[in-house]
Amino acid sequence: MSIQKSPIVKKEPPRKVAWCACGESQNQPYCDGSHSAKNTGKTPIIVDITEEKTVAWCACKQSGNKPYCDGTHSRI
Ligand code: FES
Ligand code: FES
Repeated sequence: MSIQKSPIVKKEPPRKVAWCACGESQNQPYCDGSHSAKNTGKTPIIVDITEEKTVAWCACKQSGNKPYCDGTHSRI
C-alpha cells in the first residue's frame, strides 16, 4: 500500500479521472489498475471534473467523503 497521511493536492483539468480507492496504485491518487491485479476487492471512484480546479485528494483512503480529503487522516 502506498498511502500517506495527508492529502495529495493537484490542479486538475476538466476530465474524467479514476481515484484509487485501494491504495495499491503506483500513480497516486489515480487508479492504475492495481486493484484488480492485486485482488483488493476495491474499485476506483470515477470523478467527472467539469472545470479546472484544485482538488485535495484523500491519500490515506479513510476519508468519510471519498475521494476528497475530509481531515480524517489526522486521526489515523
Ligand atoms: Fe487502487 Fe485501482 S489501483 S482502485
Ligand atoms: Fe485526508 Fe485521507 S488524506 S482524509
